[in-house]
Amino acid sequence: MTYIISICSGKGGVGKTNVVINLGMALKNLGKDVTLLDANLTAPNLGLNLGFSKIPITLNDALKGRNHITEAVYIHSSGIKVLPASIALKDLSDVYPEKLKEAYSDLKKNSELVIVDNAPGLGREVVNSIKNSDEILVVTNPDLASVTDALRTVKLAKNLKIPIRGIVLTRFNESKYELSISEVESIIGEKIISIIPEDDFVKSSIKQKSSVITLYPKSKSSLAYKKLASDILGMKFNEEYKEDITNIHKLLRFFGFRK
Ligand SMILES: Nc1ncnc2c1ncn2[C@@H]1O[C@H](COP(=O)(O)OP(=O)(O)O)[C@@H](O)[C@H]1O
Ligand SMILES: [Mg+2]
Repeated sequence: MTYIISICSGKGGVGKTNVVINLGMALKNLGKDVTLLDANLTAPNLGLNLGFSKIPITLNDALKGRNHITEAVYIHSSGIKVLPASIALKDLSDVYPEKLKEAYSDLKKNSELVIVDNAPGLGREVVNSIKNSDEILVVTNPDLASVTDALRTVKLAKNLKIPIRGIVLTRFNESKYELSISEVESIIGEKIISIIPEDDFVKSSIKQKSSVITLYPKSKSSLAYKKLASDILGMKFNEEYKEDITNIHKLLRFFGFRK
């Protein structure tokens, strides 16, 4: 039985695509058969983030009825399945988000878990994607604009009667200028189930077209993504973040505090 989890936000640029890639990769490492699907039809970048540039058959071809959806599934070097949307503007014509229903159900026999990367906003592509998912995760940053947009997404999912697993608070910096955890929870009215810290290793992994959990498995963001995956599967997680003391030692040595 395939289970479809939609990663949504409301506001763009909050870290959805990175949650899709890293949560998906972590679930795969825990033994699940995972497919990452790009339902951000108007501005797709899941494939690009994973190094797929020339893609012969995409989700758009499946939505147009030209190909079966399983023909648009590619295997990343990590072994995870990826279903990219087309980045070519011409491939947007005659693509109707209503067809996502058929695409998702055709995919159902092909994978154990499907993690969907969604467009920002509350347009037709988002509505149709949420409607055909088993549950959603709502990604937000600790600022008023993204939290307000996250609340609108939560309300949409409730109207559509789709379960909300919780909030993933990304790019968390513990700065006094950010909203606090309790403020975020009380505005949105849902629990924060994961906090992904701001971490330059995420940016570095994007540049290298891979996931942070593959390239920097001990980084603080990797541990947070892996914990979220374990929690979703109801598994115990007991890795702990250890500061890279070698860099601190180098710094102390530089300032003469250490030999
Ligand atoms: N945990 C993080 N730490 C640092 N930067 C991040 C983190 N998550 C996302 N980013 C940055 O935010 C940008 C937007 O992330 P992305 O996943 O593409 O957002 P969305 O899919 O919501 O538009 C990325 O290019 C990356 O630079
Ligand atoms: Mg994105």
